[in-house]
Amino acid sequence: MRTQVCIIGGGPSGLLLSQLLHRRGIESVILERQTRDYVLGRIRAGVLEQGLLRLMDEAGVGGRMRREGFEHAGTLIAYGEEMFRIDFVEHTGTPVMVYGQTEVTRDLYEAREAAGGIIEFEVEGVAIHDADRDAPYVTWRQGGAEKRIDCDFVAGCDGFHGVSRRSIPEDARREYEKVYPFGWLGILSETPPVNHELIYANSPRGFALCSMRNENLSRYYVQCSAHDKVENWSDDEFWAELKRRIPGHVAEGLVTGPSIEKSIAPLRSFVTEPMRWGRLFLCGDAAHIVPPTGAKGLNTAASDVHYLFSGLTQFYELNDAEGLDLYSERALARIWKAERFSWWFSQLMHRFEDQTEFDRKMQIAEMELLRSSEAAQKAMAENYVGLPY
Ligand code: FAD
Ligand code: DHB
Repeated sequence: MRTQVCIIGGGPSGLLLSQLLHRRGIESVILERQTRDYVLGRIRAGVLEQGLLRLMDEAGVGGRMRREGFEHAGTLIAYGEEMFRIDFVEHTGTPVMVYGQTEVTRDLYEAREAAGGIIEFEVEGVAIHDADRDAPYVTWRQGGAEKRIDCDFVAGCDGFHGVSRRSIPEDARREYEKVYPFGWLGILSETPPVNHELIYANSPRGFALCSMRNENLSRYYVQCSAHDKVENWSDDEFWAELKRRIPGHVAEGLVTGPSIEKSIAPLRSFVTEPMRWGRLFLCGDAAHIVPPTGAKGLNTAASDVHYLFSGLTQFYELNDAEGLDLYSERALARIWKAERFSWWFSQLMHRFEDQTEFDRKMQIAEMELLRSSEAAQKAMAENYVGLPY
């Protein structure tokens, strides 16, 4: 087999890149370790920035998202019994869109399939060869057979635990990491959201987030111990804990019900540099992770796809490698700012076990500043809706 771009990973980064390339006549093949249903069953991101909306439109898959997604003009921040609102539209002119990652992925799979795109599922033992030479190739096992594909470029879109980043020799990359001493326990329930906008809550018992997917599908999270297990939490315990962490008048309106999904996500900040090695380009979670506070993960994956897509089209259409040469630098410049925002918002919203009295006072002062300062709210809004690209 031969293709122009071999894409490892059929998550949102890989699918979006493949679909965008297809629209410009550039061929790709996607190799995905899991089944299609498994990828579609993963409940993850829910808030999309304008940049991702534009890319979905450009990829020809924005229709359902534009019809069924919900524009959010602001968000609520609660601490203890206090609550205030940050208006994104007032401060930046821009809303965000609530539309689930599962739906983004579904729209992209359907478009790839309709266009006859090749996606190989349940691939094992993927290995990238000769990425530092002119003719890279990728091998894998599938249904007992050994397979190989030759390509011009490899796009490593295989998430944090994928093989792409680890294919770059250790002495050619540098990793920066911060692991937080807690996780997020999330549930999805077929109940109306407690509020029409998201509520990020800092309570003495820890962080909580009230989010949603649509009028009858809610997504809630509570900060939990890093070692906690989903089995330790019955639905009743989850609802009781959530109620204790949001202002009383909000908790009164909370409609509870059985969970249809429950999972724990660890919190981590991570960046690898550079994001390119020869003809291998890392994209999305393969290159960086943010803690989920602020909803930047999928959105940073999208900005990487944008830079890589424009570098590849410049290469194929104009025979100019400049965009590819600048890919890592351009992507990282935006990534580090999203890392900063997610780190800052995480520090502000969570309870840290080792927090000193001084640290706690700093957190309260920061919250007071955000509540009372137009400038602080504008800075928050600018980052939340997404820095331009
Ligand atoms: P992934 O989605 O991880 O996709 C990688 C794909 O590669 C997977 O399908 C995987 O099976 C495949 N793969 C892995 N290894 C191999 C291999 N060796 N060979 C072949 N295939 C392989 N982000 C936001 O922007 N907003 C949010 O609101 C938000 N909320 C989140 C909430 C939670 C609970 C979590 C966990 C994450 C959240 N994120 C959010 C982050 C977001 O989900 C990720 O950043 C996003 O999925 C990254 O996409 P990706 O395609 O780069 O990686
Ligand atoms: C969701 C996740 C986030 O990390 C966030 O900041 C906002 C919303 C969600 O899953 O709905």
